[in-house]
Amino acid sequence: MDLFDIVRRGPASSSVPEGSKIPWDDPDFSRRMLREHLTQEHDAASRRSERIDRHVKWIHETVLAGQAGRVLDLGCGPGLYSDRLARVGHRCIGIDFSPASIDYAREHASTADLARGYTLADILTTEFGAGFNLVMLLFGELNAFSRLSAADIVNKAYRALAPAGTILLEAHTFDAVHRLGEKEPGWYASEQGLFSDSEFICLMEQNWDGENRIATQRFFIIDASNGNVTQHAQNIPAYTDEEYVAILEAAGFIDIVFHASMGEGDEQRAIEFSSDTDKRHNAQADAKDPPLDFVAVTATKPGRDRL
Ligand SMILES: C[S@@+](CC[C@H](N)C(=O)[O-])C[C@H]1O[C@@H](n2cnc3c(N)ncnc32)[C@H](O)[C@@H]1O
Repeated sequence: MDLFDIVRRGPASSSVPEGSKIPWDDPDFSRRMLREHLTQEHDAASRRSERIDRHVKWIHETVLAGQAGRVLDLGCGPGLYSDRLARVGHRCIGIDFSPASIDYAREHASTADLARGYTLADILTTEFGAGFNLVMLLFGELNAFSRLSAADIVNKAYRALAPAGTILLEAHTFDAVHRLGEKEPGWYASEQGLFSDSEFICLMEQNWDGENRIATQRFFIIDASNGNVTQHAQNIPAYTDEEYVAILEAAGFIDIVFHASMGEGDEQRAIEFSSDTDKRHNAQADAKDPPLDFVAVTATKPGRDRL
């Protein structure tokens, strides 16, 4: 591609021909992405350590009730959650298709005698195994898949869980995805960054497909040395809370609970979802709260509790 292709581009749409995901699994891209996961300067690819610590404490104490269990971390990245969960006694398996992240997670894992393992695989196509007490998919990753694929992943997670096991989805709120889709175009210049090891300009534009409720984000990466253009795009389907409930219920989950945060806010703000009334009960959240970017949802596979 060159600059003329940008000028003559068609409108961004949720059926973008250039692909629906940024290339997480490309070796060079994943090497650059690993830097973004590990940096303590921002919370973009993975959260900073302090926040992950708080999330892991919440997962350990609230979701797993402090009992050692088997955890499957889907889209685990460099294993920042699995590593910490292993340190408090859980046996963790992480799956991710980013080669640099999995290499990092494995190298890190080999430094201590803790029970965690990492698999380089695409969570859409790989088998998850069985007998887990917790399957988690964090940081909005569910929204990076088409609706059909997201439902497949939730169904596979259900099969991978032991009876009474829990799924934890940290997904984007509908409003967060809608806001992204409506965002004005923007750009930045960088000497070295996520999209290239050498100088580039990144142009970004967004689109909101109201009919299908999908935000599309397009990136045009201009190589400063020769003007060559590389294009990336990602589609992000938006879900209402009711749609998250529907996916979970269709897979067989019960006891669906929405949490306003993963241990970062007032725990009293946990929102119960009662499937029969189809309504949120939330005694304490009020209209003054800022819009939430993420919602954490837990749900249970029916069966006898392991206690
Ligand atoms: C936003 S990052 C979050 C990483 C990690 N969960 C965390 O919060 O630190 C999303 C991760 O999902 C992975 N991923 C995306 N699509 C995937 C797929 N189809 N199969 C496996 N991993 C995938 C990416 O490589 C990336 O590491």
